[in-house]
Amino acid sequence: MTVSLGDTSRYQMHNSNRLKIGLFGANCSSGRVVTMCPERWSGDWPDNLRLAHLADDAGIDFLLPLGRWKGYGGQTDYEGESFETLTWASGLLASTKRITVFGTVHAPLFNPILAAKQMVTADRIGSGRFGLNIVVGWNEDEFDMFNVKQREHEARYEYAQEWLDAVRRIWSDESEFNFTGRYLDLKGVKGKPKPYGGLNPLTMNAGASATGQVFAIRNCDAFFIQASRISVDETAARVANAKEQAAQSGRAIDFYTVGLVVCRPTKKEAEEFFHYAVVEHADWAAIDLMMERRNLTSKMLGKEGYQEKRTAAAINMAGLPIVGSPDSVAQQIAGYSAAGLTGVAISMVNFLNETPFFCQEVLPRLAHMGLRE
Ligand SMILES: Cc1cc2nc3c(=O)[nH]c(=O)nc-3n(C[C@H](O)[C@H](O)[C@H](O)COP(=O)(O)O)c2cc1C
Repeated sequence: MTVSLGDTSRYQMHNSNRLKIGLFGANCSSGRVVTMCPERWSGDWPDNLRLAHLADDAGIDFLLPLGRWKGYGGQTDYEGESFETLTWASGLLASTKRITVFGTVHAPLFNPILAAKQMVTADRIGSGRFGLNIVVGWNEDEFDMFNVKQREHEARYEYAQEWLDAVRRIWSDESEFNFTGRYLDLKGVKGKPKPYGGLNPLTMNAGASATGQVFAIRNCDAFFIQASRISVDETAARVANAKEQAAQSGRAIDFYTVGLVVCRPTKKEAEEFFHYAVVEHADWAAIDLMMERRNLTSKMLGKEGYQEKRTAAAINMAGLPIVGSPDSVAQQIAGYSAAGLTGVAISMVNFLNETPFFCQEVLPRLAHMGLRE
């Protein structure tokens, strides 16, 4: 697809799909499923490349990576093998034609001048198909590895604001400038070329807090919201509330959610595989370490309470489980659209094994419902 100068379609990911579908977490081993099953995702480069070609050809809208620096441990060292996302995105953008590829960038870990240049490079390689997923910090031990101290929660977003302001000035200002903020002090800054087509990359934020949402409303084109595990109506209320907040700030942004898809010819097959991969073969040692990180222990919750929580953690790790036959999976995804969401970033136990069936069976059903081209 050719993208012309000044083309705003980068904000629609260069297509008119009302409901966008992306693949989430393929740059990490095991993706988003804490499993020991032999089918689990390798995360290595040949598989990523094959997946990107397949997704590009099948009409998937975007690829979203995780910003991870070390694994979670356990028997598989969950997500222990991961590709840095801007180099990963550049490689994939060079070898695809239409799909949008995001980088997930930790503002506190990347010098803004370096990041601005890396992102422009990726965006030029992809002729305007690069997207920024800005994150402010998550796992303490990853920051320790860099010897970077995580700021107190509000300050993380204040810093991110300065960081993004600086990056966007580098992307737009024609003349040299100084940038003096509370955290950043940059002198004689200049950056060329600018992003492709004279427009900034599509920007998302994956915070979970109210502060994260305010940041996204002010600065981003899209924000991730947690879909309700109870009903479409509850998800719709959450989305309506977030849209109302955006409207009050004079902004209209899109909302996305995440989920784990297991789609098989029948409900029974899908449920059996989900249980096999996610529960029977869970990497419990990794899940225990994640629970410990959040101060959830059997001492605190009692043996039974702990068991319940850790099973729920395994099941919900990758977002809402979307499990079933093609009809049912299409219905569940259509429910997100009915709730006002613009898109969903899905994970799979093994992206390469499962994406072809999903694309053959679910995408046409969504098209039939008028949600996709
Ligand atoms: C869909 C989604 C993807 C995320 N991906 C990452 C990631 O790749 N790297 C990371 O450090 N944090 C990631 N996070 C965590 C958020 O950036 C954020 O730190 C966390 O949700 C806490 O939210 P808060 O900053 O609003 O308190 C992700 C969160 C969500 C909801």
